[in-house]
Amino acid sequence: MEVVILADPKDIGVVAADAISALVDRKPAAVLGLATGSSPLSIYDELVARCEAGLLSFRQARGFTLDEYVGLPVDHPQRYRNVIDTAFVTRVDFAPGAVLGPDGQATDIPAACAAYENAIREADGVDLQILGIGTDGHIGFNEPGSSLASRTRIKTLTRQTRVDNARFFDDDVESVPTHCLTQGLATIMAARHVILVATGRGKAEAVHHLVEGPVSAMWPATILQHHPHVTVLLDGAAARRLQLVDYYRETYMSKPDWQGI
Ligand code: GLP
Repeated sequence: MEVVILADPKDIGVVAADAISALVDRKPAAVLGLATGSSPLSIYDELVARCEAGLLSFRQARGFTLDEYVGLPVDHPQRYRNVIDTAFVTRVDFAPGAVLGPDGQATDIPAACAAYENAIREADGVDLQILGIGTDGHIGFNEPGSSLASRTRIKTLTRQTRVDNARFFDDDVESVPTHCLTQGLATIMAARHVILVATGRGKAEAVHHLVEGPVSAMWPATILQHHPHVTVLLDGAAARRLQLVDYYRETYMSKPDWQGI
């Protein structure tokens, strides 16, 4: 796991966008794993700027989103499909239908989850997965206690996650759905490169467990310690509980420029 600590969230966007640009350069039909939440926004803004400048194109690329609330109406602004469209997909040049997400309106939920897993498999898997992390250590919506071998399925959201996400629902926790569909931990682990972004002191405990804690279903993101290519992009506040901060900084500073993350 590579840990990169950057002072400015904009730099986080640039470092991640460099990796995504390099991937799309060498593989124009790359498959991206897209996350909602505020953490990846600087990445999406940077990618949009590069597209607008003609430096990058997603014309042949595909995308799979991580998760979706169950039961939100199709036109609800907080439906993750709409959130990711607004934040990224419609701002660049993906072909129509190139980005898929789990169907939070499905009547047969197990079938919808199996179909989603199939779609990812048929696309030959995700090349690069963007992730945020919840304050309780969830990735996607794999809440504490999630099977480390899980695949796309329905989950019940914890009270903590609903409280955290109430800010998107007029601060009314009761308006936050109680259930979601989420890629499982094993689904996420199958991505070839994972870039996880965390900023702010509120994420420091989850980051501490993710990077330096024991692997445990109680902190689901810790499964990433078993992944061969994970890059964790942090600001100083999110890194404040890490023991080996100096080592991570030194390692990143001494990397040759050509190497990337
Ligand atoms: C939600 C999403 C996660 C996201 C997390 C953190 O619960 N399901 O995918 O990583 O929030 O969001 P933020 O980046 O806004 O802190």
